[in-house]
Amino acid sequence: MVKMTDTILIEKGISRIEWADREMPVLQQIRKRFEKQKPFKDKVFAACMHITTETANLVRTLKAGGAEIFLCASNPLSTQDDVVYALQRHYDINVFAKHGESNKSYYQNIQNVLESKPHFVLDDGCDLVNYLYTKRPDLIDNIIGGTEETTTGVQRLKAMERDGMLKYPIIAVNDALTKHMFDNQYGTGQSTLDGIIRATNTLLAGKVFVVAGYGWCGKGLAQKAKGMGCKVIVTEIDPIRALQAHMDGFEVMPMISACKKADFIVTVTGNKNVIDLYHFVEMKDGVIIANSGHFDVEIDLNTLKNISLKVKEVRDGLEEYTLTNENSSKLEWVPNNKRILVLGKGRLVNLACAEGHPASVMDMSFANQVLAAEFLSNTTLENKIYSVPEEIDKQVAFYKLQSLNLKIDRLSLEQRNYINSWQEGT
Ligand code: NAI
Repeated sequence: MVKMTDTILIEKGISRIEWADREMPVLQQIRKRFEKQKPFKDKVFAACMHITTETANLVRTLKAGGAEIFLCASNPLSTQDDVVYALQRHYDINVFAKHGESNKSYYQNIQNVLESKPHFVLDDGCDLVNYLYTKRPDLIDNIIGGTEETTTGVQRLKAMERDGMLKYPIIAVNDALTKHMFDNQYGTGQSTLDGIIRATNTLLAGKVFVVAGYGWCGKGLAQKAKGMGCKVIVTEIDPIRALQAHMDGFEVMPMISACKKADFIVTVTGNKNVIDLYHFVEMKDGVIIANSGHFDVEIDLNTLKNISLKVKEVRDGLEEYTLTNENSSKLEWVPNNKRILVLGKGRLVNLACAEGHPASVMDMSFANQVLAAEFLSNTTLENKIYSVPEEIDKQVAFYKLQSLNLKIDRLSLEQRNYINSWQEGT
């Protein structure tokens, strides 16, 4: 029986999904075409994605193309339960996820999704693929192809490719320009600040804001934090990215120096233990730290727990660790009573403490997802990682410009000939 609270959740989910859809005109256009052409007729899709309103519109589009979808979460804290209810009860999609689920239930749901014996696998971070290859290799032969949404997932897949492990072709959606230039940069920039602000309601203006990693996400975040009036410091390990941060006007220094000055520190590197014991002991009392990279490995929370006397949830999604040196005689240099505040349990803060990226950028990311899936379904490829074909990338940008009513110039014949020739000089 559907309970009253369920009905409220379903209606809330539908309303929010429809709201996001208004900002996803490219996906809408593709959905209309899929409704007629049914490119995925009789095909089963297993998807492991953040369960947000935008993802709901992605799976609606695949369903319109004739696919049967089985969806689970790509992070235990990013699932929006109203979206789960709406997808299950209103849009007739098979969803296995609950906000705040345990690690055990997270992997059980990945297994549930794989039981569908999918033809296509859509992943965000490579957890589904990892489970498939290590626990259910018997299902691999049935798979035609897959896509991967994020930088960290693509890195893991490239490692699998190097080890000769790939057994079906995969399209790295993250590599499309219309994905990482917009989703990673503008999406992560805005939604990371959104997560910090919603969870803390702290003024950003005038504060020292440290961004670890000046990749696509870090650039966006540094720009937005500067726009809010923060004094931004960037930490990097790549000399070229560090130089770019410097010339973009940001202070650049190692984390061990930056952490002493910070009011906020956000990691967006895709790397491990970027903030560790040596940084915790140097931080100011009351510093707020967060991660916006894909996995919760960027801040060494186990060590933070070990050097803390107590951990208290001071607001939703905001935990205060109070340091102590009493846990070990070897740690007498840990200052007593210093407070470090951690957002969203170190999981990506824009999804754990807010709603993730705005729909308008996810429109392009997910248009790439569905067009890449269509490409996989009608092209024979080797078992490698491929970029999104340039025509698809350009088509997504073209549709987006069209939806924004923006017009651009066209090459004249003379110009086309000129840029394709070598004879003409000064
Ligand atoms: P990227 O590869 O463009 O940038 C990562 C940067 O971090 C590089 O410049 C690298 O040199 C730097 N880095 C690596 N280790 C470091 C360390 N120890 N200290 C300082 N810098 C270090 O990657 P991108 O696209 O910016 O993605 C970063 C992470 O964010 C990935 O895990 C990705 O999956 C995730 N992501 C998160 C999103 C979100 O919604 N929060 C959206 C898109 C991506």
